Amino acid sequence: MRLATPSGFATEVFLLERPDRDLLPEGPWTLLGDACLRNAWITAGMPEPAHALWVTVPEEEKILRSLIPWLEHWARVPLHRDATVVALGGGVLTDLTGLAASLYLRGVAWQVWPTTLLAMADAALGGKTGADLAAGKNLVGAFHFPRRLVACTDFLTSLPERQLQNGRWELVKTALIQGELAWAMDMLQDGPLKLAWVERALAFKAGVVHRDPREAGERRLLNLGHTLGHALEAASGYQLLHGEAVGLGLLGACLLAEEQGLKPFPASLLDTLTRRLAPLAPMVAPWPDCLPLLARDKKAARSSGHTEKAPTVEIQCILPRPNEPAVQRALPPQAWAATHARLLSMLHQESLRA
Ligand code: GLY
Repeated sequence: MRLATPSGFATEVFLLERPDRDLLPEGPWTLLGDACLRNAWITAGMPEPAHALWVTVPEEEKILRSLIPWLEHWARVPLHRDATVVALGGGVLTDLTGLAASLYLRGVAWQVWPTTLLAMADAALGGKTGADLAAGKNLVGAFHFPRRLVACTDFLTSLPERQLQNGRWELVKTALIQGELAWAMDMLQDGPLKLAWVERALAFKAGVVHRDPREAGERRLLNLGHTLGHALEAASGYQLLHGEAVGLGLLGACLLAEEQGLKPFPASLLDTLTRRLAPLAPMVAPWPDCLPLLARDKKAARSSGHTEKAPTVEIQCILPRPNEPAVQRALPPQAWAATHARLLSMLHQESLRA
């Protein structure tokens, strides 16, 4: 099924069960795929181009150095300007492949075939490509929209349960950005993933990134849950998966919104979030470990009133509201201190109760 996207949108978006070879590029192309998926790809009757690369890229190798052998390989083949690179894998592989495609010959076309729920629900759409630097995640990258996104849910069947739950948090994020509590509650229940949720999330994100491709305003809303989430993820030494950290960040953002005087969320939502997140409590780092990471947030900016002696850092925080779209507010990292304490106490109380 091809999803409706805004007119002139750079990426055609398809959501299917089984991979379909007709959606591969028409002209010359090559494949950069996760080695774990090679069997599934071939078994599904999908073609393997002569110069395909099947690679394994662990999270800690989402770095520029990983791209160099791929670029050298394409240059040796050689791949020309009219070629398309097809990226098949999870977010680490697709972010890096998109970056490599943006660099090779100063930019060749690419398609993204995300195979994890996290990548389908968020990472693959919107043209953000990137790699990590020692100072933080995704600190280098380019906006390079894929020509086509093909999400095939059959690839999800081999994912471990923890990975599926991990991706679900990006879907919950999408609901909370819009203040859609009923949808969020639906996705927080036990039960199978629904294709309609992914479809709805992709349609919403396509609209946002079309209106604001370079994150000058509205696109920042997609960072809901990511401010505290990124800090918790890094402070856990990446024991927390990205989506899990976002889930904790979402609950944190609901609490911070309330502390900032916005309309409180119903106890039913906060309780459900807490119940689902309580098993992660042992991986939540103490506040002193999180504070420096929050201050280093990619979206941090010195506030205009700073003096050289005491620069004041503010971070863009996205605050959700029940039944209304989330809002942005620039706050000092310290604003999260009370939220972090309340979050931890809610998780611990729930763990004791369970
Ligand atoms: N993952 C957030 C964005 O694409 O802007």
